[in-house]
Formats: sequence, C-alpha cells, structure tokens
Amino acid sequence: MTADLEYQKVCDLDDVWEGEMDVFDVGDNEVLIVHSPGQEIRAFDPTCPHQEFSLADGELENCVLTCSAHLWQFNVLTGEGVNPTGTALKSYPIKIEGDSILVAFPEQKN
Ligand code: FES
Repeated sequence: MTADLEYQKVCDLDDVWEGEMDVFDVGDNEVLIVHSPGQEIRAFDPTCPHQEFSLADGELENCVLTCSAHLWQFNVLTGEGVNPTGTALKSYPIKIEGDSILVAFPEQKN
C-alpha cells in the first residue's frame, strides 16, 4: 500500500513563466520547477544525475534542459536523458491548485 502523498506549496504559477525554470527551497528539499513551452509544468530534483552539479545554471530550450557542467541533456516532459540516453532526472509528483504549484516529496528516511 502507498501512503497518500503530502503536497507542499512551492511557489505561485507567476513565479515560473512559460519557457523558464527555477530552483526553490521547500523545507529541507530543493526542487527544480520547469515550465516548458506548451504550458507543461514539471518538478525535478535539481541535482544532475551525472556528477551532481546543480541544474539551476542549466539552459532550457524548448523541452530540453542542458546541464551547464558537462552538457548532458534531458527531456523535461519525461525527465529522461536525451544525450546520453539511459539516464533520467528524479521527478516529483506535482499538482496545480488555483495559482499555486504544489509538489510531493519522498519521505526522508533517517
Ligand atoms: Fe551535469 Fe555532468 S554534472 S552533465
């Protein structure tokens, strides 16, 4: 059985315009919110799966996010690696309530 997800507010819709992305702190978590062209909004762990650089300095072009460190690329609709393939960003469940973007983070295990 899976527990109900607990969503936390990250930001307002106005904080991340279409074609933009930004990293937000929510409690002990950091989350990368990506608002790609076409109105799709996604939430990811902002740590690059290659060598754990922050994706905050990456570049978003159409639906492809390029990490600034070594230029790995990810599809921000699926989180999957474009170049190279076989890798993926860690995505978080997201929902929109009114003007707010909410994200559910995995439970911290100590
Ligand atoms: Fe992102 Fe290397 S850390 S491409």
